[in-house]
This record gives sequence, structure tokens and C-alpha cells, in this order.
Amino acid sequence: MGATIKVCMGSSCFARGNAKNLQLIQKFLQDNGLEADVELTGLRCCNQCAKGPNLNIDGVEYNNIEAGTLLDILERHFGVNK
Ligand code: FES
Repeated sequence: MGATIKVCMGSSCFARGNAKNLQLIQKFLQDNGLEADVELTGLRCCNQCAKGPNLNIDGVEYNNIEAGTLLDILERHFGVNK
């Protein structure tokens, strides 16, 4: 199953937390052997800076994402239980 995670790399989202979120996603994919199944890409600013940091997983947009929330979302989305 191919999933796609898009992370906004605009300067606002990047500064608000997506720099860290990106690392967290990469680590999550590695730890769970999902790297081959998931396409991880960056997005330019999508003009929703006020709601950032923003990211998109399989077409679902998530706003205001910090590390704890992100892990919950990833675990739920990929059916991984810690
Ligand atoms: S920088 Fe992410 S929406 Fe603008």
C-alpha cells in the first residue's frame, strides 16, 4: 500500500515545528520498516501559515501539529501500536 506524507516546508511551518516533525516522521518510518511504502515529500507554503505547522497524509490535511500529536496520527494511520 503506498502512502504519501507531505510536509509543508515553507519558512513559517518549518520554523513552527515541521523541521522537527520531518525528522520524527523519518525516524517513525525507519523504526517501523515503512520507508519503502511511504513517499515523503515536501510542500511549498500552502498559505495556511496561521494554522501551521501543516502536513498532509494521504490527502488528509493536519494543522497545528506538534510532536506528540504527530506520533499519535502516524500510529493510528499506519496501524502501529507502541
Ligand atoms: S509555511 Fe506552511 S502554510 Fe505557509
